[in-house]
Amino acid sequence: MRVLGIETSCDETGVAVFDTEHGLVAEALYSQVDLHAVYGGVVPEIASRDHIRCLLPLIRQVLREAGTAVPDAIAYTAGPGLVGALMVGGGLANGLALAWKCPLIPIHHLEGHLLAPMLESESPAFPFLALLVSGGHTMLVSVRALGEYQILGSTLDDAVGEAFDKTAKLLGLGYPGGPALARLAQDGDENAYALPRPMVNRPGADFSFSGLKTAVMLVARKARENNELEHVKADIAASFQRAAVDTLIAKTLKVAKAERAERLVVAGGVGANKLLRKDLTAKFEGRVYYPRPALCTDNGAMIAIAGALRLASAGEAGAIQARARWSLDALEAPVAA
Ligand code: KG4
Ligand code: ZN
Repeated sequence: MRVLGIETSCDETGVAVFDTEHGLVAEALYSQVDLHAVYGGVVPEIASRDHIRCLLPLIRQVLREAGTAVPDAIAYTAGPGLVGALMVGGGLANGLALAWKCPLIPIHHLEGHLLAPMLESESPAFPFLALLVSGGHTMLVSVRALGEYQILGSTLDDAVGEAFDKTAKLLGLGYPGGPALARLAQDGDENAYALPRPMVNRPGADFSFSGLKTAVMLVARKARENNELEHVKADIAASFQRAAVDTLIAKTLKVAKAERAERLVVAGGVGANKLLRKDLTAKFEGRVYYPRPALCTDNGAMIAIAGALRLASAGEAGAIQARARWSLDALEAPVAA
């Protein structure tokens, strides 16, 4: 069975073909980052229009590369995300499913992230604990089986990726700043500034990043007033990255212990962060699974594999699902049709 996966929830047009026997056979990604960079963040209308421009050519390219004329099923991101951008992927997926008379599977974007490590040869078995860290979400999820997700903790304010992006902006690194900030941090001293590790000593599994964001803003402002920002920005980046990573790791280890988790999955864009990957692997007493960095950030492959796993409950084309907000723990396990 070959499943075509379509991801258009934000500023990346991702398309892939997943084969239930041979794994990922073709994928393509077009990033709109340059289009949005001038505005310092994603502009929803521009995102929708660019998905319209790129999606069909990418689908053609991926199907050609996979040597597939018509897939056996189509999976698309139905939410959460920018509703206009979701409508583009959902609309095209629906039209193609009608024309090709193939089943259609709406997928929750975060379920895609959670299942992305299963695209790798060393794939985690259920159950596992997942640290899901992206531009819009920061959560610890107990994954018992496909569709059986319990959110154990999440951020009370900013997502960790958002904190990376805002800090990067303060340092003049453009948008999205996470990867650029991580690169700059390599040249800095992570002990240069004492920044807070919010919530680490509080009970519970929730995160908060607004205090850290404010603390780093004050440090950057002071450095700018003293005309030394250029000189110290690598130190600020390194101190911020260390504080953010320490915070994520402290909570994750605590929850993993309470849950007696033997397997840990790290997924979502911030999961590409090298320091987070290195330190979690060293500190977690069990096995840590990561998708390769390109599959941590938004992509079509994670939607295709989620679709393949949910094939049993696929429906027919007819209505486009596009949900701006959609809680992960509202999902259900697939029911055979
Ligand atoms: O999962 P994703 O591609 O999109 C969302 O669903 O949000 O995550 C994007 C986020 C951005 O905030 C980006 O700055 C961050 O992931 N990110 C990183 C790194 N690569 C991407 N943050 C820290 N270090 C990285 N290497
Ligand atoms: Zn994402």
